[in-house]
Amino acid sequence: MKGKHIVLGITGGIAAYKAAALVRLFVKAGAEVQVIMTPNAREFITPVTLSTLSGKPVITEFFTANTGEWHSHVDLGLWADAFVVAPATASTIAKMANGVADNMLVTSYLSTRAQVFVAPAMDFDMMQHPTTTRNIATLRADGCRIIEPAEGELASHLVGKGRMEEPENIFREIDDFFNLTAGMKGTKLLITAGPTYEKIDPVRFIGNYSSGKMGYAIANEAAARGADVVLVSGPVGDSLQVHPGVKLVKVESAVQMLEAAAEAFQAADIAILSAAVADYRPAREYDRKIKREKDGIESLELVKNPDIAATLGASKHPGQILVGFALETDHELDNAAEKLRRKNLDMIVLNSLRDKGAGFGVTTNKVSLIYADGRERTDFPLKTKTEVAADILDAIATMKP
Ligand code: C5P
Repeated sequence: MKGKHIVLGITGGIAAYKAAALVRLFVKAGAEVQVIMTPNAREFITPVTLSTLSGKPVITEFFTANTGEWHSHVDLGLWADAFVVAPATASTIAKMANGVADNMLVTSYLSTRAQVFVAPAMDFDMMQHPTTTRNIATLRADGCRIIEPAEGELASHLVGKGRMEEPENIFREIDDFFNLTAGMKGTKLLITAGPTYEKIDPVRFIGNYSSGKMGYAIANEAAARGADVVLVSGPVGDSLQVHPGVKLVKVESAVQMLEAAAEAFQAADIAILSAAVADYRPAREYDRKIKREKDGIESLELVKNPDIAATLGASKHPGQILVGFALETDHELDNAAEKLRRKNLDMIVLNSLRDKGAGFGVTTNKVSLIYADGRERTDFPLKTKTEVAADILDAIATMKP
């Protein structure tokens, strides 16, 4: 935490008084804190308290009224090593999720490249409302870490989930994050993601339903932790975001993916192969569209594609960690364990197509991690793919190559 730059966004909720304790914890640990308050937050706690504790003038407006000095949200966003919103009201969460940049806090949020932490605080019913649930899910999908509110008595005297997590726990979560990032900084990671398309003719291909979401989530999480990431991606939709620290290499076929992955693997410390690579490709690729009447083709001859995981596994040198995925419909554990051995992997992430919410296309996943070093397998509950990505990277951090 020492020397880290924390932007602390405070919004207008009763829990704003707890933000003072949070500033103290950061400052005591040696961090520099810049407080940004929303205009409403000033109704709950005074800027004087926060500027005294942080040792820096609090920012609320885009301009200082008497001098006309402009506060650069871009500079603030880039200055931050962590961007923390605590407490985060339903309204600010909604603005963040939708890019409504009508105050300094949300504008700076949109400009930051730092890891963002959001600690919601609101009444039980507001917390449960489908709008809030949807907005929080959007923030998670955008890579924010949500520091879940605790259960207990709320300002309304209702009892339920909605109390902002205690400052000590928020502090610990951010401190843990910095420790994790320190562990990953400079680590070279190769990740494969998405499907492969195997060309039949200029307009047709053999493919699969993989969306690439899991692999992109791992790449983004690893980059947020400071790793150097090469993401070799098959064809995925344009909607998947990549962290600025990720080098994206786009490929189409399994053969192209092998070529790009093999090259990046030479320098990699860790490779995580989440791509759903087509097992076969057409033996022949037509350079013009196949015509039903003229060509009269009734079947396609296929040839086997290279197994990227097994190829990298065979060339793995000491010190490299290789992680694969297994998506199974039956005999899940046996099949996954067999793949772990055959492909010379150090860990395999098993997701079963039988589990609701796991697998292709969806934003959630339910995985088990199976290790080659003989330790007990870990089973995780259903989580977002961003959370699963964090679990996978945490597990890798505990592994010795
Ligand atoms: O054998 P299966 O396709 O189930 O193995 C899944 C694992 O192997 C995944 O990690 C996947 O990315 C990888 N794989 C590969 N190249 C292939 C087939 C699978 O890298 N041709």
